[in-house]
Amino acid sequence: MSQIIDKTTDFVKEKLQGAEAGHDWYHIERVWKLSKKISENETCDAEIVELGALLHDIADPKFHNGDETLAPKVATEFLQSLNFPSDRIEKVAFIINNVSFKNTHEAPEHLPIELKIVQDADRIDAIGAIGIARTFNFGGFKNNLMYDPNIPPQVGMSKEDYKKSNGTTINHFYEKLLLLKDLLNTDSAKEIAKERHQFMLNFLDQFYKEWNVD
Ligand code: ADP
Ligand code: NI
Repeated sequence: MSQIIDKTTDFVKEKLQGAEAGHDWYHIERVWKLSKKISENETCDAEIVELGALLHDIADPKFHNGDETLAPKVATEFLQSLNFPSDRIEKVAFIINNVSFKNTHEAPEHLPIELKIVQDADRIDAIGAIGIARTFNFGGFKNNLMYDPNIPPQVGMSKEDYKKSNGTTINHFYEKLLLLKDLLNTDSAKEIAKERHQFMLNFLDQFYKEWNVD
């Protein structure tokens, strides 16, 4: 492993100590591995992809009073401390700024492939069995209800509404998780998503069956 990647993993592990289990070092490690896997079928700058994956949740606005400027700032200062070239730092910061689901509508039309890869990897880790586990963990962390048949999902929320949404965890499947397979950029991510998407549909069927004591 290159020295810069090595130092970055140490930095991220340290920073994310005590993080919510869905956004901890192991989430970063999975996104990093998925990014490398997706990269195998793309022509891209591997170092930018790896650094983008490793630093993409370094200061998630959800856990920092909604501050969206902190993560790129923390990452930039860290990479400057390693004397990483400034034009390449900008590429990593661009990934951090644009990777998020809630910023999708704002992202520029022609995204760099390195961003597309990290975005796909982050989205893949939001679906399937891991996606389900992360979502219930986050819902518990926020003290949200698991499910309430009287609260309908709100698809297509504005960025502001999405951020303050206190809906149920089951609604989050309809508001985000089930939409992700159609938002993927690369063919390899679309392939990985198929099984994971189906697994969530099966989970929901079983959940309602047990909820209704059918
Ligand atoms: P992004 O990083 O793409 O902006 P988020 O950080 O909002 O996405 O979501 C990452 C993961 O956190 C989601 O896939 C989900 O598991 C969990 N999560 C976020 N918001 C909610 C919510 N309102 N209810 C349940 N889980 C959530
Ligand atoms: Ni993430």
